[in-house]
Amino acid sequence: MLLSEDSWEVVTLDLRVRPVIKWAGGKRQMLGQYAPYFPLDYRAYHEPFLGGGAVYFFLSPAKAFLSDINEELINMYRVLQTSVRELINDLHSHLNDREYYYNLRAMDPAGLNEVQRASRLIFLNKTCYNGLYRVNRKNQFNVPFGSYAKPKIVDEEVLLAAHFALQGATLERKDFQVVLDRSRSGDFVYFDPPYVPLSRTANFTDYTNGSFDSREQARLADTFHELTQKGCLVMLSNSDTPLIRDLYGKYLKGFVVVQGVRCVNSRGDRRGRIDELLICNWLK
Ligand SMILES: C[S@@+](CC[C@H](N)C(=O)[O-])C[C@H]1O[C@@H](n2cnc3c(N)ncnc32)[C@H](O)[C@@H]1O
Repeated sequence: MLLSEDSWEVVTLDLRVRPVIKWAGGKRQMLGQYAPYFPLDYRAYHEPFLGGGAVYFFLSPAKAFLSDINEELINMYRVLQTSVRELINDLHSHLNDREYYYNLRAMDPAGLNEVQRASRLIFLNKTCYNGLYRVNRKNQFNVPFGSYAKPKIVDEEVLLAAHFALQGATLERKDFQVVLDRSRSGDFVYFDPPYVPLSRTANFTDYTNGSFDSREQARLADTFHELTQKGCLVMLSNSDTPLIRDLYGKYLKGFVVVQGVRCVNSRGDRRGRIDELLICNWLK
């Protein structure tokens, strides 16, 4: 907000499009390192591990196919796309209160309507400890209350900017291989899967109650190769580990080493800089 010389209030809106929720493995902090490698020219954009969608919102492509296996997450984006006013109204009804938080956390989303489910996810994300989404084996959200003094539960500017950005997007709750059906030659596909853990104790795969093991990583590498043969521009982020170097060995010239910020111990309370790979199939 700015005050002009004659003290009239001028409100400036910060309408940069950015993620509406914080997500484990979110790529917002990596955008500066990724930006030089994003292709300038492509037909449609695909992001099959959408999460918080940091890369999608940064690029804001006119035509996009966005998907994720997480049902609550895809419901939230659909509501943002079609019913942002109702969503904002519902978000205003929440309380930053411990008891209220645990009651809403315990509620089965299946018993709520779509707007209430989207609103519940955003509220829990803004008020839970460390703003992360994590579920247990029964697919129940299990992060404790964060006790923050003033969490920004309703950020209208960010919600509205995301709403407008999403108008050209197709949203689906699907396994990542849906990209094989949706893509065409000349499309750009960005993969940001759950990473290969750096140690046995590290576990970065708690977004859903499934696990993304080495067989899943190999299935993803097969998908990457198939898209390459089809003529798509494909980019993938993952940890710099022997498994990833092996699975993507034939794209060695497309390996870009970037610096990620990652939890460096099993309790996740110490963070450090760590090498990560960005793999681009068009770099020769
Ligand atoms: C590293 S996160 C993506 C983070 C995102 N790029 C961001 O900036 O916030 C990985 C995502 O993959 C999703 N996921 C896990 N297994 C999947 C699968 N088999 N198919 C599609 N999505 C999957 C998770 O639900 C999670 O949202």
